[in-house]
Amino acid sequence: MKRIAVMTSGGDCPGMNAAIRAVVRTGLEYGIEVFGIRQGYAGLLNSDFHKLTSFEVSGILQRGGTILQTARTEAFKTPVGQKKGLRHLNELGIEGMIVIGGDGSLRGALALHQLGFPVVGVPASIDNDLDGTNMSIGVDTALNTILDSLDRIRDTASSHTRAFIIEVMGRNCGYLAIMAAILGGAEVVSTPERELSMEDIALALADAYVRGKSHAIAVIAEGVSYEAIDLVTYLKNKHEVGFDIRLTLLGHIQRGGGPTAFDRLLATRMGVRALEVLRDGQSGVMVNLEGRETGTIPIEKAIAKTREINPSYFDLARILAR
Ligand code: ADP
Ligand code: F6P
Repeated sequence: MKRIAVMTSGGDCPGMNAAIRAVVRTGLEYGIEVFGIRQGYAGLLNSDFHKLTSFEVSGILQRGGTILQTARTEAFKTPVGQKKGLRHLNELGIEGMIVIGGDGSLRGALALHQLGFPVVGVPASIDNDLDGTNMSIGVDTALNTILDSLDRIRDTASSHTRAFIIEVMGRNCGYLAIMAAILGGAEVVSTPERELSMEDIALALADAYVRGKSHAIAVIAEGVSYEAIDLVTYLKNKHEVGFDIRLTLLGHIQRGGGPTAFDRLLATRMGVRALEVLRDGQSGVMVNLEGRETGTIPIEKAIAKTREINPSYFDLARILAR
């Protein structure tokens, strides 16, 4: 293998740059040219490729976002789009591709693999929803960002005897929410996997108030069936919980910022591993973290279902909220 391509796709996350750098520098080590595709599958459809040099990836290890940019592109979900992409790869003599992204991006990678083109995936999404790996790139940084925000909110909440409803990202997966609740000392957590009704949340907040707490934090995953704003309206109008109620939607702050040490290491190891397994002839696989080791898993298996949350985490959150 002499020439490959790399792209970042779907939602960006901290650590994508570290992974790109690892792919390019490992490629140089093995005498493989690495072309960057800008803006994910959109760039593949527009033939937006350029050769990545060692110089271009220097100074990016610590930067959030992605130097290759990213996109969401409906056109690549169609067989016509996929064949067009394949044609552009063949035109440039590209022999394999590394896709850095979340479950949607890996579905695209699987489609190319099924058309006979060698592809390896690298899991990168703050959601940690990919079943095939213990951790995806970006999760640790997002969690640290959430905890920093939560700590700041608790300072002001306890000064004013307030309860805060804090909405965190994660799409259909409650991983960020449950971890933020445990590590940030929240009183209440509601996730798609263990959704609390608005009434249950009101009762838990009222209970924290009568027990004499100076503040209460409710972490709400964005994937629950109600909107955080409707929960706040409910708490203000329908229930007397004692605390004054405020709402914070953390939003895209969770996706930005430089990667933590954990994410730099994970992205670096996964980037190196992805290039090596592609070079060794593997395709249709995603690199993953199993225990402390990196490995590979068929993409089909990795995306088959949303990663489950260890049920003991819900017990921890409940016990520690007393
Ligand atoms: P993420 O990778 O973060 O989960 P998306 O779900 O938005 O992000 O997917 C990113 C892109 O991957 C989509 O815009 C589309 O181009 C491609 N993609 C998603 N699902 C498929 C699919 N089933 N087949 C082919 N390509 C897909
Ligand atoms: O998949 C990453 C993620 O940040 C999800 O947590 C969130 O639901 C979604 O992307 C937001 O997407 P957008 O950046 O298109 O608003």
